[in-house]
Amino acid sequence: MCFNLGRPPRPTKPLGQPTRGKTARNRLRKVDLFLLLYDAALIRRTDGMYSEAFYVDLGYGAEATTTLESAARLRALHPGLPVLGVEIDPQRVAAALTYADQLTHFRLGGFNLPLAAGETVRVLRAFNVLRQYEEAEVAPAWETMGDALLPGGLLLEGTSNPTGRVWCANVLRKTEDQLVQEALVFGTNFRAGFEPGIFQPVLPKNYIHRMLPGEPIYEFFEAWKRAARASLPVRTLGLRQWFVASAKGLAASGYRVELRHKFLKRGLLVWRLDSA
Ligand SMILES: C[S@@+](CC[C@H](N)C(=O)[O-])C[C@H]1O[C@@H](n2cnc3c(N)ncnc32)[C@H](O)[C@@H]1O
Repeated sequence: MCFNLGRPPRPTKPLGQPTRGKTARNRLRKVDLFLLLYDAALIRRTDGMYSEAFYVDLGYGAEATTTLESAARLRALHPGLPVLGVEIDPQRVAAALTYADQLTHFRLGGFNLPLAAGETVRVLRAFNVLRQYEEAEVAPAWETMGDALLPGGLLLEGTSNPTGRVWCANVLRKTEDQLVQEALVFGTNFRAGFEPGIFQPVLPKNYIHRMLPGEPIYEFFEAWKRAARASLPVRTLGLRQWFVASAKGLAASGYRVELRHKFLKRGLLVWRLDSA
């Protein structure tokens, strides 16, 4: 059953501003992989309001590549998944519309999503978008994006390097009525080498200016660097093994880091921030 997907959304002024549109093929491949590992059930859900809930890619850039790639990857799990690409730049929307089909939509919009009445969202990804804003704009943008999410839904907001080999993202969960910072995830495919410092240039906007003694993100990196130094002999076995050993050391020092192999072996370090 399909409802509302063809109905035009209510016209509202998009919140935000057009920024550089640079993107690249496969740039967000690892982010998709992370999502599938982290919460596959959320992608598969079809109960109640989730029956037609969108996966939204906000700020897909000059080309629709990342949206189309995510649609293909996530539909391996949920073939009928509705996907919505949102851009604040009208020319980028016009260019993407060539790729629209019954399940794949592109619309002009901003942090206040262009949704029609009854349309819902399970996941909203905004990658390489907020880094071009001011730090003070982050929390209001999260809040606005969070308004569109169904309870249980996720906001993935992060930054990558141009190739996507190194990235970092905020993982925020919508509860019944608010957005909770659930985790901070760091991803690498090891082609850019490894040591914890490689993630500093791709920290999301809410952290990038906070690398100062006393700030939690700074102390986290200090602890990770200490753990990496302590496990340096493991580096001779390979960067992946060293990454895993450093994560274990970080966990041993008291940080709530995911130690499940499915994350670590793929170069994903998940730092849990919620109180669960
Ligand atoms: C650098 S591109 C990122 C492309 C892609 N997400 C990636 O990671 O490769 C940023 C895009 O976000 C768009 N953008 C910026 N603010 C936006 C907003 N508030 N709502 C929708 N799109 C926005 C810009 O127009 C630009 O095309």
